[in-house]
Amino acid sequence: MIVLGIETSCDETAAALVADGEKILANVVASQADLHGRFGGVVPEIASRAHLERLLPVLTSALNEAHLSLEAIDAIAVTSRPGLVGALLVGLSAAKMLAWALNRPIVGVNHLEAHIIVALLEKEAKFPLVALVASGGHTSLFLSTSFTEHRLIGQTTDDAAGEAFDKVAGILGLGYLGGPLVEKAARGGNPKAQDFPRSLLAEDSLNFSFSGVKTAVLYHLSGQNASKPPKKLPSRELADVAASFQEAVVDVLVEKLLRAAHRERVLSLALGGGVAANKTLREKVSQAADSDGFTFYTPPLNLCTDNAVMIAALGYHKLKKGLADDLTLDVYPRASEFVA
Ligand code: KG4
Ligand code: ZN
Repeated sequence: MIVLGIETSCDETAAALVADGEKILANVVASQADLHGRFGGVVPEIASRAHLERLLPVLTSALNEAHLSLEAIDAIAVTSRPGLVGALLVGLSAAKMLAWALNRPIVGVNHLEAHIIVALLEKEAKFPLVALVASGGHTSLFLSTSFTEHRLIGQTTDDAAGEAFDKVAGILGLGYLGGPLVEKAARGGNPKAQDFPRSLLAEDSLNFSFSGVKTAVLYHLSGQNASKPPKKLPSRELADVAASFQEAVVDVLVEKLLRAAHRERVLSLALGGGVAANKTLREKVSQAADSDGFTFYTPPLNLCTDNAVMIAALGYHKLKKGLADDLTLDVYPRASEFVA
């Protein structure tokens, strides 16, 4: 079954064609980072307009890459939550039009669950597993019992991990998009140079808080009252601060993922979302998984950040279980009624 995936929840316009939930026939992503960079964050109105301009060319590129015509598509999967409503609506409208014109099934997909599923593409998936999705908008732990069943067991109480990377990049004057820039700046830095706070919350908590570490970096540069603009650091010191910040965030993510995996008595763990592209995080989770005997799943680097392969893959599993939607499908800003 060939599923067309469409993703427009934030600032990536993406389309993919995936056969049987695992074979990638085409994967096209048009990033809008160039448009939002000068505002220091995603501007919803600009994102919606850019999706509108880019979606048809992206769809055409995906079909060309796969050497397929529209008729070859068996079903359409589209991100329906969570995300910017105006942005989601662009993808949903295109998906509905295609489903209607081609007379094919349509299925709405949860973007966070899709970040988990794409980690399971390369190795045979063994459930149950605990999954950490760390992205620009969310830091969430799930207990996954099948490709389509994911129960939220922990989430951030303030900033998401990726958001902290993005804000600290701003404080350090590195620009946009923060995560990869902080990672690059941290290269060669001493991760123990600064002891930034690692907020673990209560001893048994699976929730996260990253606003403290972000503020600690700000105070380190501007002093306690933070009234002065952050000072520009010499490159050696910049590398040390970036590495120390990265280490603090990574330590918390690894600790909570392992804590959740032990608590839920699973044998496998998964890591997904844009922050999963961070090499220090991947290495530390991999080492911890090895030493505690867990099977570890994570996507290749290019499938950590937003893409439509993950949407098509999860769509396939939902369709196989008879979980198709119809043309009344709608979009929602939140991951579920229970997730902020
Ligand atoms: O999953 P994603 O592409 O979009 C959302 O669903 O939000 O995640 C984007 C987030 C951004 O905050 C970005 O700075 C972060 O992932 N990110 C990284 C890295 N690459 C992307 N954070 C740390 N290290 C990276 N290498
Ligand atoms: Zn995402």
